Amino acid sequence: MGATMGAEVAVIGAGYVGLTTAACLSSLGHRVVCADVDQEKLDALQRGEATIREPGICELVVDGLASGRLRFVLGASAAAAAADIVILCVPTPMGASGAANLSTLESVVAEVRDLLPPGCVVVNKSTVPVGTAARVADLIDRPDVAVVSNPEFLREGFAVHDFLNPDRVVVGSADRDPVPARRVAELYDKLDTSVLVTDSASAEMIKYASNCYLATRLSFVNTVAELCEYLDASIDDVTTGMGYDERIGKSFLRPGPGWGGSCLPKDTFALLRTAESAGSDFALLRAAIETNVKQQELVVDKVRKAVGGDLAGVRIGLLGLTFKAGTDDLRDSPSLAIAALLAAEGAVLTGYDPSVHAPVAGVTDAVRIAGTAYHAANGAAAVVLLTEWPEFRALDWGRIADRLHGRSVIDTRNLLDPRTVARTGLAYQGIGRPDSVWAPVAPVAEMVTHAG
Ligand code: UGA
Repeated sequence: MGATMGAEVAVIGAGYVGLTTAACLSSLGHRVVCADVDQEKLDALQRGEATIREPGICELVVDGLASGRLRFVLGASAAAAAADIVILCVPTPMGASGAANLSTLESVVAEVRDLLPPGCVVVNKSTVPVGTAARVADLIDRPDVAVVSNPEFLREGFAVHDFLNPDRVVVGSADRDPVPARRVAELYDKLDTSVLVTDSASAEMIKYASNCYLATRLSFVNTVAELCEYLDASIDDVTTGMGYDERIGKSFLRPGPGWGGSCLPKDTFALLRTAESAGSDFALLRAAIETNVKQQELVVDKVRKAVGGDLAGVRIGLLGLTFKAGTDDLRDSPSLAIAALLAAEGAVLTGYDPSVHAPVAGVTDAVRIAGTAYHAANGAAAVVLLTEWPEFRALDWGRIADRLHGRSVIDTRNLLDPRTVARTGLAYQGIGRPDSVWAPVAPVAEMVTHAG
């Protein structure tokens, strides 16, 4: 069916990727049935309530329901039986070995296999190891059903934006078969973007290579930032200078407490395992992962030094617990990994995060949750900023200084203006920002010099 008519699409899984895909495709004019196994989630969606925190998603769900182009149903079978295109968006968590666990994907395939209408195209959107589209085709084992890989490149917090304004759409089909690939590409006809049609293994590899490149780039930047501290250079200026080179580009160059979230850590491990199974040693990727672990230890070293060398019984205030700003996602958050390391040395932690209002059992156990940033600072020897929430920039640092027992502010995101913090009498430390490159040698007002 041509894109102008809109396709009948089944999206299996109403999680972060599935719901975004379903809501965005319905907004592009397709008729979408989105299936999940969680009745409560489906009820909420049916009432027009968004179940993920993503700007714009709620409006798209409400519009989709009102137009009749978006429906939610219980179970994959109910969605798949009348679809032209079935898009699999099920979780592929990291298994014990580091490889992706495909059991949910495989059970959905087994469930829908015999129900798929002839001529249907099954699309893998979940991040899956290279070779999975071919494996799904083997499992379906029907000459009248094609399997295509169509990886997603959605950032949390920007998922709707990224879906509707993609840098590229990648479609991989067996032997680059153009017919099913074209039908999947047509889903995106209304978007102004490049579509790359390739084979399914290459499409799957593009997804892993992209995320692993981004992770490696950040580990590189974090190491350069560490060197800047030894060499009295400014990482802010170094990355700005690098970014002007069009081959490098300006984005994804911010140093931090290490990269985290539900994708980069999982995908780097998975590609490392894939390389091992293929008999290849991806030493660079292993180093990127190890560097990321080291980055968290470096933050702990800074905190330990700032409080005099021993963290036992020392109160520390943490600002930001999520893996990045603009999300409530705590999965694989560097903030929590650092909290665990601090707690292991006996530090007593109080944390504030604008999107975490209550403790999450088994996840935030090391941290007492405070209601405001000022409460997190109460009586602490040091404050450690871990997530780049813009509101932290607007804090009254004088008020924080009054509440702190010690003097140290450690800004692992280089979010704050060091001078603003220092003016309150606090000792500021960033990442790759040695004192020599920002500390005023004279009162700040006198530092403004005029050439000529
Ligand atoms: C990432 C990719 O950016 C998406 O393209 C991809 O589709 C997605 O994974 C996925 O596989 O589904 P996301 O997990 O939302 O998206 O997170 P990012 O915004 O990429 O950030 C990842 C980590 O890198 C975070 O911990 C973030 O704080 C850190 N980061 C990012 C930095 O430390 N510095 C930067 O300059 C950018």
